[in-house]
Amino acid sequence: MIDDIARIEADAAPRIAAAASLDELRALAAELLGKRSALSSLKSGLGPLDPDARREAGTAINRARDVLQAAVNARRAELEAEARREQLAAERLDLTEVTDATGAGHLHLVTQAMERLEDVFVGMGFTVAEGPEVETDWHNFGALNFPPDHPARDMYDTLYVEFGAPGSTLLRTHTSPVQVRVMTSQPPPIYMVMPGRVYRQDTPDATHMPVFHQIEGLVIDRDITFADLAGTLDTFTKAFFGGDFTSRLRPSYFPFTEPSAEYDIRRPDGSWLELGGCGMVHPNVLTACGIDPEEWQGFAFGFGLDRLGASAHGVDDLRDLFTNDVRFLSQF
Ligand code: DAH
Repeated sequence: MIDDIARIEADAAPRIAAAASLDELRALAAELLGKRSALSSLKSGLGPLDPDARREAGTAINRARDVLQAAVNARRAELEAEARREQLAAERLDLTEVTDATGAGHLHLVTQAMERLEDVFVGMGFTVAEGPEVETDWHNFGALNFPPDHPARDMYDTLYVEFGAPGSTLLRTHTSPVQVRVMTSQPPPIYMVMPGRVYRQDTPDATHMPVFHQIEGLVIDRDITFADLAGTLDTFTKAFFGGDFTSRLRPSYFPFTEPSAEYDIRRPDGSWLELGGCGMVHPNVLTACGIDPEEWQGFAFGFGLDRLGASAHGVDDLRDLFTNDVRFLSQF
């Protein structure tokens, strides 16, 4: 009996060590240690033995069981560690790997237009500033010479924010409040452009979005005239669109400029595109911002980016720009 036990143990040990997978090990453990195992049947055959021999054989069987169980546990630990290593290797991500450039994305059409506009103005000597999208009524309207309840406010379908006194806080309806932030935070001379996102309570259609983008320009210096404004916009037109484009100014009205004008560009095919507004900064605006209008003058302009970017690429529905369909966006 003792020899049988030793033989069972000696046969089993190398098989356990050679188990190649957790499944194989589980089956082997059942075979070697389960109810139908050779050790179990030896145990149930102990009855006829005399008490000393029975005790001796029983102890030997239990010891052999413990040895085999320990061998199974050790092999299981090895196989589990191996499986974990394999999983880590399979799921490994090389973050330094260079991806195929054809799979890379690119900037959105509006962002491209914004960056090109900034580049052209920086090339003309302007610097770039930004302001907040949630604004005070004073920055968006008050300081820009819109008296309270003035009908000119109706030009802007304003979205108000529930913050502070009713009507005191809003989503900026244009980038012009950034003019106010610039003028109240630094002394002239000022040559700046201010791009950004603006909001109006508008139903989306081919030419209107409730969220869109503008770029604002502001120049404040001594002896600035309307001719400087016209010259700057015409220089910009040629630098941005090409030498075969020209521009014109048409009389208009904005509370924060006097005189005010609409700025149109003329395409090489002779058609006109209205881009935005401009004018000489109103003395009331300079005064509201703490600048002496007797000493300083300036001009400002502001135009929409989205239509400009869209028309440059023959896109005729602004909504397409913002539906985020990659098949559409990847064309530009
Ligand atoms: N803020 C005006 C708008 O959104 C556009 C504008 C007109 C900006 C005249 C200006 C300006 O700076 O001088 O309709």
